[in-house]
Amino acid sequence: MTAKAYSLLAESKAIPELQVIVAGTGNVGSEFLTRFSKQQQRFSGKIALQLAGIVNSRHALLASNLAADSWQRDFQQFGKGYAAADLVAYLQDLAGPKVVIDITPSQSFARQYPALIQAGCHIISANKQGVTLPDAEYQALRQQLRQHKLCWLSNTTVGAGLPVQRIIQELLQSGDQIQRISGVFSGTLSWLLCQYDGSKPFSEFVLEAQQLGYTEPDPRDDLSGKDVQRKLLVLARELGLKLDLADIRLNPLLPTELATGEWQDFWQQRERLDRQMLALYQQAKANQQVLRYAASLSLQAGQIKAEVSLQAVALDAPLAALAPCDNIFVIESNWYRDNPLVLKGPGAGSIVTAGGLHADLAQLVAQLAG
Ligand SMILES: NC(=O)c1ccc[n+]([C@@H]2O[C@H](COP(=O)([O-])OP(=O)(O)OC[C@H]3O[C@@H](n4cnc5c(N)ncnc54)[C@H](OP(=O)(O)O)[C@@H]3O)[C@@H](O)[C@H]2O)c1
Repeated sequence: MTAKAYSLLAESKAIPELQVIVAGTGNVGSEFLTRFSKQQQRFSGKIALQLAGIVNSRHALLASNLAADSWQRDFQQFGKGYAAADLVAYLQDLAGPKVVIDITPSQSFARQYPALIQAGCHIISANKQGVTLPDAEYQALRQQLRQHKLCWLSNTTVGAGLPVQRIIQELLQSGDQIQRISGVFSGTLSWLLCQYDGSKPFSEFVLEAQQLGYTEPDPRDDLSGKDVQRKLLVLARELGLKLDLADIRLNPLLPTELATGEWQDFWQQRERLDRQMLALYQQAKANQQVLRYAASLSLQAGQIKAEVSLQAVALDAPLAALAPCDNIFVIESNWYRDNPLVLKGPGAGSIVTAGGLHADLAQLVAQLAG
């Protein structure tokens, strides 16, 4: 074999690289980064995963070939203040396949996606803000991704590590038609309604959930049901439906008068919530039912019905058999008509969510490395 032939062979076997930039170093971001070096080893021989940047809301460390093992120390030592434009400029200059992993809760970060795509980045999001943008903006992003032949994976935006979007995609690709998706999509409300037994006021369970770190800083954000509404929108879009948040009927768990204003004012009036919840709980119990805050999306004869609401469900219904904090997704389709497909498990937590993000990254690697 000639020298030229050897060099051609070596070139053809060159391992592709993927530059990975991580945004967010909080609960999930830290867990994701801590596992990164193991994944580098797992994929070595197939693709070289290069850690090429870490940013949070205050600092950025932007350099290729960062050592994943010492990310925390290096980020603390060398991370510097930056502007959004610095990140975009860095990404524009960065060669080769690249992916930004958005593990922030930030709408302003999600609004940078068009610039990131323009710079040639694939996107993986745990952040729901991008996948729930107004439909026109969302469709424009999808179009831009198609033009640039880039991927956007967002499996952790609903159900944390549970692969609900992936299951929906596989069913659709197999030719199935989904008629209904329902379930419990909020770990916080799942915990509250599984724990609440009428033995003490509902607001005391809310306080306990807050102290355990299960709620948003203001638990009324969970009780408003808006997070569940957003998650149902994500699944509706996964089905190809052009919906906006306003198309999903929202019946908050919290009486509307208590939803706004100071926490202190809410706390003084909490008895109204407690009375309402006790009455609903007792009524459900008398009917051999349990309370669940449920989401449902049904597609019947071209009619779309989407809503999130507090419901009383029979003890033998799939939504009843739930461990506190669990999410459950019940999918009814042509293949799963009489006996629905049920996916259940923890719907929050940094370990499972970081795992889900690595699963998205592995999916991208499979596409790039073949
Ligand atoms: N925790 C879960 O169980 C779970 C499950 C599924 C999905 N998620 C989603 O995952 C994301 C992260 O959750 P988390 O629990 O890790 O949150 P977190 O602990 O609050 O961390 C958020 C991180 O994002 C950074 N950040 C905020 N705004 C930013 C911006 N504009 N640019 C760059 N970085 C920014 C923060 O920076 P600073 O450090 O400077 O504040 C912080 O490092 C959220 O979107 C959440 O909804 C979480």
